[in-house]
Order: sequence, then C-alpha cells, then structure tokens
Amino acid sequence: MAEIGKDILKAKALLEAVELVGFPTETVYGLAANALNPEAVAKIFEVKNRPSFDPLIVHTDTIEKVKTFVKYIPLDLEILLNQFSPGPITVLLPKEAIISDLVTSGLERVAIRIPNHTLSLALLKELDFPLAAPSANPFGYISPTSAQHVENQLGQKLKYILDGGECKVGLESTIVGFENDKLTVYRKGGLSIENIEGVVGKVILKEHSSSNPAAPGMLKSHYAPKKKVIFKSDLSKDLNLNTVGFLGFCETFPEIPKSNQFILSSKKDLNEAAQNLFKGLRFLDQLDIETVIIELVPEEGLGMAINDRLKRAAAK
Ligand code: TXA
Ligand code: MG
Repeated sequence: MAEIGKDILKAKALLEAVELVGFPTETVYGLAANALNPEAVAKIFEVKNRPSFDPLIVHTDTIEKVKTFVKYIPLDLEILLNQFSPGPITVLLPKEAIISDLVTSGLERVAIRIPNHTLSLALLKELDFPLAAPSANPFGYISPTSAQHVENQLGQKLKYILDGGECKVGLESTIVGFENDKLTVYRKGGLSIENIEGVVGKVILKEHSSSNPAAPGMLKSHYAPKKKVIFKSDLSKDLNLNTVGFLGFCETFPEIPKSNQFILSSKKDLNEAAQNLFKGLRFLDQLDIETVIIELVPEEGLGMAINDRLKRAAAK
C-alpha cells in the first residue's frame, strides 16, 4: 500500500531519492520520476510494465524551463504553449542532450507539458529537475483519474501518491508537433481540436497505428478494460442483457439492469462526459458481468477524444 497525502515536501524528498511518486494533473494521474536521472526513469518502465519503445512526457512548470530542455520552439508551438499552458497540451520539440534517450525512446523529439494543477505546479516549482510521467496505470489499461485508482493498481509498488482530488479534465493531454512542416496532432486529448485550430488554423490529425513503433503510443488497442467491450450498434439479438453493462452518453439502456449502467453526462455535457469516462470504464470493469456495451458520443469538442478512447477500448 502507498501512503496517500498532500505533502509536497514528502513527494519532493522521495523524488530526490530516485523514487517514484503518484502525481495528480488536470488530465489523469501520472507516475512521476526525476526526468534527468536514468535510474529513476528506468523504474517507471519497470513499474508500469511499459515497453521501452514507448517514450515518456516530461513535465515542468514554466515555458522558460521548457526552453532549457529543447533546441528551439517552432513559432506555432510556442503560440499554442502561450495560449494553453498550463493545460492539457503536450508539444513535441527537438531535445537537448540533457534529456536522455531513455525518456524519448531514442527519438529526436521530447514530449513536454505544463500541467494545470495547483499541487503539481507547486511540486514542480520546488524541484530542480523536471518530472517524466506516464499515466499511472499498468501499460494498456485505463488511465487513473483519482489517487485511489492509482493505489488500486500500483499501490504495491509505490511509497507515496500525492492526492490532488479527481482530475478535472479526465482525458490525457492532446499531443501536437510538426511533421513535414505541418502542425500535426498525434493524440486527441483534453484540449479540443477546435480550440487548437482557433489559434493556429487547420492541423493534420494523425491516425493511429497498431504496428508502427515510429508512431509510439498510438497503439490501436489501449485504454482497455479487461472485460469484452462492444458497441451498441453491433449488438446481437441473442446477447443476454442481464449479464452485460452499459456505458451510455446521456440516457440509460432500458433492457439492462440499472445497477450495471454508467451514464457519462445526463445533461449531454461533453466536458463532464470526459471527466467521467475512465471512472465509468473502471466501474463497469469491476462488475460481475461479461460484456460492456458502449456507445459513441457526438464527434465534436472533447467528444473526439472520448470517441478515440472508446474505440481503442473496444479494439482487440
Ligand atoms: O495527460 C497526459 O499526457 C498524462 C499526464 C500524466 O501528463 N500523461 C500521459 O502519458 O498520458 P502516457 O505516457 O500515458 O502517454 C504519453 C504518450 C504516449 O503515447 C507516448 O508514445 C507519446 O505520448 N510520446 C511521448 N514522448 C513522445 C515523443 N518524443 N514522440 C512521440 N510521442 C511521444
Ligand atoms: Mg497512458
């Protein structure tokens, strides 16, 4: 069991002693370590059971500090950082040597973000190194949006989880970088495409790949519950609805027992739905049922990222 608390100095002391700490952000909880210490970074891969070809995001608290980890910031990415940081955006930038290949899995670019959470910003301010942090879940499983989620899955392997309450955004950050001179979104996330395009114009949306390690973290099957997940639109008539669960957008499924259902937002608010998504998937995953039925939400705003996670949860 890990200790759960709000003690920044305790978290700081552990991180300085090359330990991992569970760390709240506005998107999802992270599993943090000193990004400049390869021994600490190696522990992240080990505890998460994460393949070493999947690189980590580096977290810091100011754009001035970002500049010390990278060679330069292309103009459009600097505009996005100024506009949306701290916030749910991660930018891919050409790394300086101070960022090790272990963090970037040998890639030339490092993923950096400034999380928008009072506790994590206060911690980052106290530290004289940035934090490498993937989402604090075993590789491939649903991301955690509360300290208790982290404790449930990784508590055995952690000493301390900094408790920042429930994540306000609930979806991982949106990842943006340049590719062939075009601004490209590599992962849809907590900052909507509309918000990004409102500031820098049209962007390219990179489709995910299940096989190409040059496009890491875009594995087709990811964010996946242990139960079988199928779309409502693919339901077969012979499925016994007493042994299934339902993750709905705004309305329940009349033929399924109420206790086996989770509604993302009865008032059809996509931000609320995003905030509830991983909690809902976890709730359904621990019920005594065989199959989870899901339905897509409107493909706009954060709905695009929600649908992305739902499709990956259903992918085998
Ligand atoms: O909201 C978030 O981004 C959360 C919180 C904790 O900050 N973090 C998060 O980390 O979602 P993780 O490791 O679960 O997902 C990071 C994604 C991975 O898909 C990884 O492949 C991609 O970012 N990534 C990291 N560094 C990269 C790089 N240098 N180039 C391309 N993709 C990168
Ligand atoms: Mg993750």
